[in-house]
Amino acid sequence: MGELDPTFIQELEHRPKPAVIEAQGIPQIDLSAFVTSSPANPNAPEIRDLVDQIRDASRDWGFFQVINHGVPIESRERVFSASKRFFDLSVEEKRKVKRDEVNPLGYYDTEHTKNVRDWKEVFDFTVDPPLVIPAYESGDEETFLEYCNQWPQHPPELREACEEYVKDLKKLSNKLLELISLSLNLPANRFEPFFKDQTTFVRLNHYSPCPAPDLALGVGRHKDAGALTILAQDDVGGLEVKRKTDGAWIFVKPTPNVFIINVGDIIQVWSNDAYESVDHRVRVNSTKERFSIPFFVNPAHYTVVEPLAELTNEQNPPKYKGYNWGKFFATRKYSNFKKLEVENIQIYHFKQPEERKIDDVVSRVTNVVI
Ligand code: OGA
Ligand code: NI
Repeated sequence: MGELDPTFIQELEHRPKPAVIEAQGIPQIDLSAFVTSSPANPNAPEIRDLVDQIRDASRDWGFFQVINHGVPIESRERVFSASKRFFDLSVEEKRKVKRDEVNPLGYYDTEHTKNVRDWKEVFDFTVDPPLVIPAYESGDEETFLEYCNQWPQHPPELREACEEYVKDLKKLSNKLLELISLSLNLPANRFEPFFKDQTTFVRLNHYSPCPAPDLALGVGRHKDAGALTILAQDDVGGLEVKRKTDGAWIFVKPTPNVFIINVGDIIQVWSNDAYESVDHRVRVNSTKERFSIPFFVNPAHYTVVEPLAELTNEQNPPKYKGYNWGKFFATRKYSNFKKLEVENIQIYHFKQPEERKIDDVVSRVTNVVI
C-alpha cells in the first residue's frame, strides 16, 4: 500500500486539513416529549419548546443530533454487526449482489462524488420494495422500472436486522417530518401525502483504512438530495459539516446512540430556502475502519418538488420551479454510475432565473461549488 489510485485524489482545495474543529455547535435535541406523547399536542409548552429547537437548528445549521429518539439501541447494534460481517466478506462474494447500470440497489465500491472516487464501499436497500423510478433515457415519460432489494446469502442475519431497523427508523422519520412541519408553522401532517409511496432507502457505508487520508475523502463534499437524512455513525468519527456562519468544516464528534439529522435539498425547496441543505463530507484515516448508516428519507417518485404555497407570497415568491423527484433521482443515480464528465444535476438548476443570478455572484465571490 502507500500508493493511491489517482481517481481518489481530491483537488488541492478540497483535501481535508489536519486542523479539526469539534462540533461544539451542532445542537443536540431531546425528543422524549414528542416520542412518548402521541399524537402530541402542538400547543403544549414542552412541544413548543422542542419545535423551537428544531427550527433554530434547521435554519442555523441544517444539522442536529437527537437523543431519546425511541429507537432501541439493540436494533441499531444488530445492523452494525451484520454490516461488518458483510463487508468482511471477499469482494467476489459481495459482488454477487452488486448494483448495475440500471438497478441502483445492492453493493458497490465505485461511487464518485463530483467526479472524484470515494474511499468507501456501500450496500443500498430500499425500505418499501420495490423501488419504483422512471426508466432513464427511455425517451418515454411513462416508463417506470421496479427494483427489488438484493439481499446477500451471507451473513444470513443481515436482511432481518435491516428490516427490523427500518421499522424503528420509519417511526422516527415520521416524527421528525412532523416536527419540521410544525417548525415551519404548518400542520404536523403536511408532508404525509408525499411519503405514501416513499422511495426512502438505507445505505450501509464501510470506509476501510486509507493509505493517504490527506489526499482522498470517504465521501467528497456534497448535499443530500432527498428530504431528510437520519445518520447513525460508529465511534470512529469522520463526518464533517460545513458551518453556515463561516464555511469552516466542523468535525461531528461521535456520541453513542445519537442520530445525526440533516435537512436535504427537498426540504430546502419546500421551505423556499428557509432551511438549507448543507455541505458535508467524510474524512478517512490510516488505521481504523469506520461504519455508518444513513437512512435517506425520500418522497414518492411522482412528487413534484416545489416551494409550498403556504410558505410563499408576493414578498417571498417561489425561488424554484417544480421538478419531478423520480426523474431527478434516476438522473443522479445514472450519472454517478457512469461517472459522467458533466456537472451532476442539482436543485440549483431549478432555481428561478433571477435567483440563479444572485447565486452565481455568491458562488463566484465565495468559491462555493453548488
Ligand atoms: C452520505 C453521508 C456520512 C457518513 O452517505 O451521504 O453523508 O458519516 N455519509 O458516512
Ligand atoms: Ni450525505
